[in-house]
Amino acid sequence: MTGFLIERDIPIWLAAKPWLDVRSNDEHTLISYRLGRALLRVHPEVDDRIVLPAILMHDVGWKVFPEEQLAQAVGPNAKYPELQRSHEIESARIARAELERLVIPGVDIDRVIAIIDGHDTRKEKLSPEDALMKDADKLWRFTSHGVATIGVWFGSSAKETVAMLESYVLPTLLTVAGKTMAEALLADGVAAAWMDETLNLRGVLAP
Ligand SMILES: [Fe+2]
Ligand SMILES: [Fe+2]
Repeated sequence: MTGFLIERDIPIWLAAKPWLDVRSNDEHTLISYRLGRALLRVHPEVDDRIVLPAILMHDVGWKVFPEEQLAQAVGPNAKYPELQRSHEIESARIARAELERLVIPGVDIDRVIAIIDGHDTRKEKLSPEDALMKDADKLWRFTSHGVATIGVWFGSSAKETVAMLESYVLPTLLTVAGKTMAEALLADGVAAAWMDETLNLRGVLAP
């Protein structure tokens, strides 16, 4: 029993977890899972049996690659940008094997895998389920956990990270609900990044 995961998803999480203990993927996955559930509350017509298993399994492929390459796979100066595509292929392969072993009733494996394969590199949505999965994945970047993690990956300050999210990631969200949630998280992130400086702001007094 867990108050965090839907009962159906517990075996999927347990199968994904051993693959996720690199680059904070385990925590990223759990935060995206809850963001996915929040998006599904706004969109009850979208099939959670596709969205949530896809979120839990989407990044399992990263672990296949050497740790030193993972650190340089994303960001403005990425040395191994090809891993962006390679990790999707490996995630789809591992997720298929795990989901076929588990056989969860109601979970359409082919539809889940189609979403995982291309979750980062395919810009357009295949379906409403795909759109919610992609938005849940990206929304993590706007959370405090995401801003801190990206700051380490990119060597960027919180101010630089939130500015980058606003310019480059916010426009790529696919749903209105996702954009709205991103705006709210961004407001919090910008406030946190600028809080001390703004609290200490001293005006120039007029003569
Ligand atoms: Fe990914
Ligand atoms: Fe991800």
